Amino acid sequence: MMFTVAIDGPAAAGKGTISKAVAAHFGFAHLDTGLLYRAVGAKVLAGAEPIAAARALDPVDLEDDSLRTPAVAQAASEIAVIAEVRSALVDFQQKFAGREGGAVLDGRDIGTVICPDAGAKLFVTASAECRAERRFKELTGKGMDITLDQVLADVKERDARDRSRETAPLIPADDAVLIDTSDMTIEQAVARAIEIVQARLG
Ligand code: CDP
Repeated sequence: MMFTVAIDGPAAAGKGTISKAVAAHFGFAHLDTGLLYRAVGAKVLAGAEPIAAARALDPVDLEDDSLRTPAVAQAASEIAVIAEVRSALVDFQQKFAGREGGAVLDGRDIGTVICPDAGAKLFVTASAECRAERRFKELTGKGMDITLDQVLADVKERDARDRSRETAPLIPADDAVLIDTSDMTIEQAVARAIEIVQARLG
């Protein structure tokens, strides 16, 4: 059986947690597509040329724990505006989406560009302040030395860049179901996402 769940939304909206939970619930595979852009961003910070880095990307590059920093996130959103970088990453994502057994992909353009025919599309959002607060807890929980203001600035700057770029901007697909998680617990958001996917699965 093949079924793709597309989960898009702005920075730190909880896409990762929701995607993992949805994938676990239905026994689907999960791909955090942000890691592809983060891995390219990390290589560029280390001196590589963006398009060549995207073309040479290896799945093992995604397993690097250091990809989760705000500096890498910023680098990711900078290289993510380059059309050739994005096109170099399309094939890997579409192959993953088409795998037997079902797949959940989360990112910015899954429902609009990568998997326009996805069986279920969700657009997860929350206020910038809520998202920054959650990401701040996550990063400081891992021992990172950062302030809430720095996290909020990162989130806002990336959102603005992601929304205004010409290629595959961050925008809900026409047929995506919106989930605003500002006033929801993560459990409530996960339950709502599962309900939406279940309804599409029939
Ligand atoms: O975890 P968070 O939501 O903060 O970010 P992420 O999903 O890891 O994505 C990092 C950056 O990669 C984003 O700010 C986007 O610029 C870019 N990205 C993208 O352009 N398209 C995707 N499908 C996923 C990420």
